[in-house]
This record gives sequence, structure tokens and C-alpha cells, in this order.
Amino acid sequence: MTSATPLVTDTEWRAHAAALADAVAQVADPGWVEAFAAVPRHVFVPRFFRRDATGELVAIEGSDLTQRAQWLTEVYSDTALTTQLGQIDPGATLRPLTISASSSTKPSLMARMLTDLHAHPGHQVLEIGTGTGYNAALLCQRLTDRRVHSVDIHPELVTTAGTRLASLDYYPQLACLDGARGWAEHAPYDRIIATCGISTIPYSWIAQTRPGGLILTEALAGGHGMLVRLTVADDGTACGHFLDYPGLFMTLRHTPHRITRPAELPPEALHGARHTSTTLDPAVLADPAFAFFCQLHLGSGRSSHHVTGGASKATVVAPDGSWAQTTSDLVTFDGTHNPWRTVEAAHHTWTELGRPPPTALGLTVTPHTQHVWCHHPDSSWTHPVSHDR
Ligand SMILES: C[S@@+](CC[C@H](N)C(=O)[O-])C[C@H]1O[C@@H](n2cnc3c(N)ncnc32)[C@H](O)[C@@H]1O
Repeated sequence: MTSATPLVTDTEWRAHAAALADAVAQVADPGWVEAFAAVPRHVFVPRFFRRDATGELVAIEGSDLTQRAQWLTEVYSDTALTTQLGQIDPGATLRPLTISASSSTKPSLMARMLTDLHAHPGHQVLEIGTGTGYNAALLCQRLTDRRVHSVDIHPELVTTAGTRLASLDYYPQLACLDGARGWAEHAPYDRIIATCGISTIPYSWIAQTRPGGLILTEALAGGHGMLVRLTVADDGTACGHFLDYPGLFMTLRHTPHRITRPAELPPEALHGARHTSTTLDPAVLADPAFAFFCQLHLGSGRSSHHVTGGASKATVVAPDGSWAQTTSDLVTFDGTHNPWRTVEAAHHTWTELGRPPPTALGLTVTPHTQHVWCHHPDSSWTHPVSHDR
């Protein structure tokens, strides 16, 4: 269900949009700052959802006079806003859960990505993940709207975004399709930008980008993913360094309604678990640089770190559901193996490589392989990116 655009005067939204443009100015080039000032975000987010104090998801509607002031303030704040809900696929061990199925991305993240995309008027651009249409509107404002293309897996989102974009006189090419296949009909593109996360880069994106063109996306998404910018070469490969920020995007899915989530600890864990010891401090996973490096070794598995009662606790879940929890030097684990061993091995390699931050690492994609390297594409150390997501 969609909501109509609430009435907001020109003077009112322009003041708010100018303030939002100021807020993103630190991370964006001036052309994109101007675009943020010129495009009304409220048109794309007439309603959003947030969790209340009890954890329930509630709608904040611009058309509800009692919520209008709060709605307008939050729409023009530097915040990601959930705009569509979906039921997560519960699987065998998880209870059903309502989560965000689409959102308007945090504006400063959008601004940073648009700046890092190095797109210019006249460029043929493809966005994966139309969502509300706000990012497409910014692309249209700065570039040539007929050369902006945007696709989403959910048909209603595409229709609604098209209507809202047209109401502002922007006419990008929109389609409802699985962005993992790109959009071959309008290729080649100069730029591809994905506003949903992905574990491995679909080769179709490289095949549909002209040599010298750029692809900006979050890779290894679902866990500790990071933005990566790839340059497509004449030989049909693509290569580039990771950037220094994550997207924290929802991961790309292949059907509109089926949403899954990465592995997590089953609630009945700890019964019948085994124990062992470790010399690796669980706090190593509190370092985002190592957490990212470790994600590469965990594939579709997941790691997390928290502090309870002053003590560090790390949790690791392997793709097959095997899990480990580590506190101090004690490891509790269950399943086919002890996934803390994967963390230990990753930490050993990371230390040997001189503890590289994500920006020292890069990704090469060929028609048949994808691997991460350190410092240089020809580095002696490489690690394949797992396709098991
Ligand atoms: C964070 S939202 C995008 C935000 C959007 N760019 C905006 O400005 O509102 C991510 C979007 O990716 C879409 N998505 C997920 N899987 C997809 C796929 N396979 N192809 C295209 N879009 C997909 C979701 O439906 C969702 O709308």
C-alpha cells in the first residue's frame, strides 16, 4: 500500500532540504550537495516505519496531522528510514520476524556513494535497488535523466517511484527485474551503483559496463561488508580497492517477497555444546578492519562481538550452522566443527599481512573467479570470495 504525498509548502521543504544538504556537505562534492538541496525527499517518503519503545514497528505518516511535524523533521534528517516491511523467512530454528524490505538510505551514505561514483552528465547509469526513487531523483537532478536507469525486484516500488519521479519532472528508465542480472537492454553503462548489498559481484554487471566504467557496490554484504569500487578493463575483468565505509545495506534477494537473513545462533544453542580453549582474545572482532577480513573467511557465516559485564564475548556462526561463543580463553561450540578456528586462522593471516585495513585490500572479478588481494592485484596472498550465499 502506498501513501499520498502530504502537503508541504515549497518554502517549508526547501528550508529543510537546504539543511540536509549542509549536513551531507562534509562527505559530498558540491554538485551532489546542490542536488540534495534541490530534490524534496518528503515526496519519496510520505510514510516510514520505526520501532517504538516496546520494539513494535509503527508507521509515521506525513498525512496524519498529529505526526506531521515529527515526520517532516525525520524525513529531512540524516537517517535511514524503513519504507516497506517484509516477513523474514523463519527457517527451522527462527521465529517469524517483520523486518525492513525497503528503505530510504541514510542521506550522508548516499552522498558519499554518489561522490565516489564519479558520474558525470551524459553518463549511462544503472542503479540496482530503486526503493523509494529518491536516489534515482538525485541522479536525474545532476545527470541526464533519460540516461539514468534504475531497477528493483519489487513491482509496487518501481511503479510508485515512477509516479513520484514524474511528479517532479524526472523521467529515468525504470524496470522491475532482478538486478543481479543487470539490465542488458540498455547496456553498456558508464556507471553501475547498487544500493542493496551483495556477497559476490554478478558477472553480468561487468559484462554490461563499458571498459573504463565503474561499478560501486557493497561486497561481502550480510555480515561485515564494505563498499568496493571496481574499474572494468578491456579484457572483461574488473578490479578495484575496497573503500573505507560499509553500506550496511539489506542484501539483494531474488524474489520480491522471500527475505532470508544470514546465519545466526539458534535459540536452543548451548545444550550439548562442547568446550575448548583459545589464546585469541574475543575482542579482536571489535576491530572493524579485522571483522571485515574475517568475514572473507567466514563466507555466508557471521561474526559478532559484544561486551557484557565488562567482558568481551564473540559469537561466530559458520554457513552450515556450526557455532562458537568465546569469552576470555574459553570457547563453547557445537555443530560439525568449531568455527572459532576459522577466526584464529584469519587472524593469523591478517597479522602476517601487517593488519591491513579494508582500503589496503581489493577485489578482482573475472568471468569465472572472484578473489581479494592485499595492496596490489598481483599480491602473492589472495583469497577467493565464497559463492555459498
Ligand atoms: C536500501 S533500498 C534502496 C534505496 C533506494 N535507492 C532509495 O533511494 O530509496 C534496497 C532496495 O533493493 C531492492 N532489491 C533487493 N533485491 C533486489 C534485486 N535482486 N534487484 C533489484 N533490487 C533489489 C529492495 O527491494 C529495496 O527496495
